[in-house]
Amino acid sequence: MKKLSNGRLSVEADSFTDHFHSSISFDSRMYKEDITGSIAHARMLGRQGIIPLKDSIVIISALEEILKDIESGKITFDEKAEDIHMNVETILTERIGDIGKKLHTGRSRNDQVALDIRMYLKNQVTDIRELIYKLLETLNNIAKEHMETIMPGFTHLQNAQPVTFAHHVLSYFEMFSRDSDRLADCYKRINVMPFGSGALAATTYNLDREAVCNELGFDSITRNSMDGVSDRDFVCEVLFCLSLLMMHLSRFCEELVLWSSQQFKFIEISDAYATGSSIMPQKKNPDMAELIRGKTGRVYGELIALLTTLKGLPLAYNKDMQEDKEGVFDAVDTVKMCLPVFTNMIATMTINKEDMLASARLGFMNATDGADWLVKHGVPFRDAHSIMGEIVMYCIEKGKTLEELSLDEYKSFSPVFGESIYDDIDLKSCVNRRTVKGGPSKEYIDRVIAENDELLKGERFL
Ligand code: ARG
Repeated sequence: MKKLSNGRLSVEADSFTDHFHSSISFDSRMYKEDITGSIAHARMLGRQGIIPLKDSIVIISALEEILKDIESGKITFDEKAEDIHMNVETILTERIGDIGKKLHTGRSRNDQVALDIRMYLKNQVTDIRELIYKLLETLNNIAKEHMETIMPGFTHLQNAQPVTFAHHVLSYFEMFSRDSDRLADCYKRINVMPFGSGALAATTYNLDREAVCNELGFDSITRNSMDGVSDRDFVCEVLFCLSLLMMHLSRFCEELVLWSSQQFKFIEISDAYATGSSIMPQKKNPDMAELIRGKTGRVYGELIALLTTLKGLPLAYNKDMQEDKEGVFDAVDTVKMCLPVFTNMIATMTINKEDMLASARLGFMNATDGADWLVKHGVPFRDAHSIMGEIVMYCIEKGKTLEELSLDEYKSFSPVFGESIYDDIDLKSCVNRRTVKGGPSKEYIDRVIAENDELLKGERFL
């Protein structure tokens, strides 16, 4: 059969060329969006009297049948028909003959593909935000159990100041909630309907774009037909949002990898999320965490690939733009696999409180609190900092911790020292006296957890 779009061409492409430029192997996943868009278009054409109303009814019911048949696996797509748009139209015409040929009145594949990808991404962004929601819930629940679990906070991966596991985990609550917000914001720009832009210069038919917009559940319509068919900035935005999300996941994964090592032993990953070694019988490897960390690279790659594809493209549609889909599909699939694996992995891991505490006792993490004690007793901070520095050096020499020094030893560095220094350098009190908003104290974290519970009940993450 001669292709629907080939009136102008005298020679058919050979099968290898067809294979090269065909996109049906990947854009078939937008079949539902494509058919839903076509149904709205056909209904509008009929209502506007652009095609006879009775024809539009025939087209709509045939499209509904095609949708059902695709879903029940009765239809196999044809590479020769290039993409999902041409495949659906070809099947339609095969089924209802000349009436089917009227569907493409007043539209182009260029506005069709722009519509389909927007519809597809709206659903995907919603799904991903739901997965983030589950992760946020899990993080908040973990925090509830660990408001008093002392662990070292690090800078430069060196013990820095004591925090709690709740505080650490809730820092990720903040990051992932911003990831969700970013996707929600990007959703607003996806939610604009390009249909009616035609190939690039709209159309002379009296299209009712608002009616199509309402039927398809978009917020508004694009204001310039050339922009409508030729920009994919919203795809880049999705890829950027997903890249940041993966970056956050990969940082947490890196921590899980470190923490599950023999050197840290802060956590034990459930056997369900670990693997053995083919040669070393004793091994339990955090493969899932590593894989999520690794998959971050491909999501970044998709972002850079699309930015590069779009760079320098003249207006309006160019076939280069067909390259937008595989990348964003892959990024979406990757994120949708990583999020639930990650959420379940952290929900089922064991937290070794004793090992965390033991590690927090190393590295003089309460030295700042010693300096703060001196400041409270009239010593300027810079002097206090240097006195505590000397004390730490002394401790290293003697193989002692700050808690183990006698008051006489303290006094040999500054006569100001008194008994209450021991209260202030106690790790628990180091954490819980940091009651400032944003800090790790139990008092404050308690409030944050309650606020998070409220947030999770509200509109923000839905
Ligand atoms: N398969 C194409 C894409 O994904 C659809 C638009 C094709 N338009 C064209 N004029 N060749 O971008």
